[in-house]
Amino acid sequence: MQKGKFITIDGVEGAGKSTQIDFICQYLADKGINVALTREPGGTEIGEKIRTLLLSNSTGEMHADTELMLMFAARNEHIQNKIIPTLNQGNWVLSDRFTDASYAYQGGGRGLDIARIAQLEQWVMRNFAPDMTLLLDVPVEIGMQRVESRGEKDRIEQESLDFFNRVRNAYIARSERYPERIKLIDSSQTTEHTQQQINAILDKL
Ligand SMILES: Nc1ncnc2c1ncn2[C@@H]1O[C@H](COP(=O)(O)OP(=O)(O)OP(=O)(O)O)[C@@H](O)[C@H]1O
Ligand SMILES: [Mg+2]
Repeated sequence: MQKGKFITIDGVEGAGKSTQIDFICQYLADKGINVALTREPGGTEIGEKIRTLLLSNSTGEMHADTELMLMFAARNEHIQNKIIPTLNQGNWVLSDRFTDASYAYQGGGRGLDIARIAQLEQWVMRNFAPDMTLLLDVPVEIGMQRVESRGEKDRIEQESLDFFNRVRNAYIARSERYPERIKLIDSSQTTEHTQQQINAILDKL
């Protein structure tokens, strides 16, 4: 059986990831492709427990290295017990955020050394990587405005505008470093505009 493809979608809060995931699932379903939808941090029972620890405000202050390692601990569980088995069954997997988010948030946002993140990536991922990453790019202020009405912010969402600008810049730097895998998509305009760009990329895939 042919292995499925692994697609990830990433970007700052309010970039439109959840909105576009619905469109992508519909697109793939129309082509007769089974796609398993998942997310990070999370995606497994243990991963969701780690997610709660990472995102709850009641968790309080956490050392940035601890945050990074918890992200990768959840990711290891996700890769080994969900993503790889699902791909091996011939299904596709679509993940709302993945390893690029660790480079963006813990690297760009928290300022952790990229080389140390890369060591952890190598350790956990070995040679595994997404087949394609859709990076939805939006100015941070616009993304924040879009999610403003959502109510209480989680532990990471509490961060400053500066933090999220560093996150955004780190995402863009990743897409420049890995242009083959990471497709940078302007998500600052209408949802239809973002959708058209994704549509063109998926048509090629
Ligand atoms: N291109 C767009 N233009 C205007 N509003 C949008 C656009 N895309 C999404 N929205 C709206 O912005 C809000 C946030 O979008 P969405 O939840 O898809 O973002 P997200 O990237 O999943 O955010 P988070 O990182 O917080 O999960 C939603 O209310 C959505 O309807
Ligand atoms: Mg979302």
